[in-house]
Amino acid sequence: MKKILVTGGCGYIGSHTIVDLIANGYEVISIDNLSRGFQQTMNGVGEIVGKPVKNYMVDLCHLEDVRAVFEENQDIAGIIHFAAYKSVGESVNKPLEYFRNNLTSLLNILQCAREFDVDNFVFSSSCSVYGNAETLPVTELEPMKEAQSPYARTKQMGEEICADFVKANPGFKVILLRYFNPVGAHPTSLIGELNETPENLVPVITQTAIGKRNSMTVFGNNYDTRDGSCIRDYIHVMDVAHAHTLAMSASFADILASDCEIFNLGTGAGVSVLELIAAFERVSGCKLSYKIGARREGDVVAVYADNAKARAALGWDITYDMDAMMDTAWKWEQQLARTAQKIMFN
Ligand code: WQD
Repeated sequence: MKKILVTGGCGYIGSHTIVDLIANGYEVISIDNLSRGFQQTMNGVGEIVGKPVKNYMVDLCHLEDVRAVFEENQDIAGIIHFAAYKSVGESVNKPLEYFRNNLTSLLNILQCAREFDVDNFVFSSSCSVYGNAETLPVTELEPMKEAQSPYARTKQMGEEICADFVKANPGFKVILLRYFNPVGAHPTSLIGELNETPENLVPVITQTAIGKRNSMTVFGNNYDTRDGSCIRDYIHVMDVAHAHTLAMSASFADILASDCEIFNLGTGAGVSVLELIAAFERVSGCKLSYKIGARREGDVVAVYADNAKARAALGWDITYDMDAMMDTAWKWEQQLARTAQKIMFN
């Protein structure tokens, strides 16, 4: 049973990926300092997979502490590196924190990969590296555009650091996975996106629907799109998770075209903000209260994926549709409300 180190395993995509890795026969350990993740999430993972998953509460910016994890786990066969700050808005206000955290943690984990001969590496990247892409749907050949935020720039720089590291270390393989917009939650509602004050659309919708927020704002309906609101490629987090398992397996099987491969993880369908709200209302039966407001700084007008390369090279497919995305997101929000009530009244 190969052992995979997942950094950021107590976070949203990391936790769902751990569930998928274990379901596919891998052993997993996590490094997460809980600055953005939650031990509660890892407890949920344990409930789903039927056994506890070990998380090392270590700051990846402290090289000695990261080394100690590798010393204790000399059988790590692969690494999936999720751990990073990821709020577009926050990164605009705190660029140094974003560069320090996201880049130092990457440098340290790569350093340990080399020192401990771990040659299979998956890097969590983002469609935000494309900026305002010229052509849609966007393929992996689309050149990176000017980053719209320090967050996006840390992803662009992270990809280039990985590519240079591969060139300097023959035999080391890296796979760059560019996520579009992961949404939804595990069907058991035992894990999902945990964020009291989210900025991204789907948790804002579900918090508004459940009454945690009085209303929400659609940031602009005067864009040059079919209904004036921005278009994105929303993809179920479980489909994103499974792509990581397939990428790790492909790396071990050494079947990819090069030692540094890039894959888009999107459904290929562009959906507008207003269309997503309508889909949520249809699936949940809730009428959402929202107002139309000003555009949000840094938003790209439209971006959605050409995912043919990941389908062909990884044997990856989309298994959750928009209804499932909305349904699992809504069920997760309702579960959170029940848990909060229990805590409040116990
Ligand atoms: C989507 C659309 C908003 C909130 C994502 C992730 C980010 C990174 C990059 C992975 C936009 C609109 C939102 C609201 C709104 N992902 N919106 N009202 O900006 O595509 O960023 O991709 O690395 O972590 O969040 O996603 O969900 O913030 O916005 O109208 O209250 O919804 O303007 O058009 P975005 P988002």
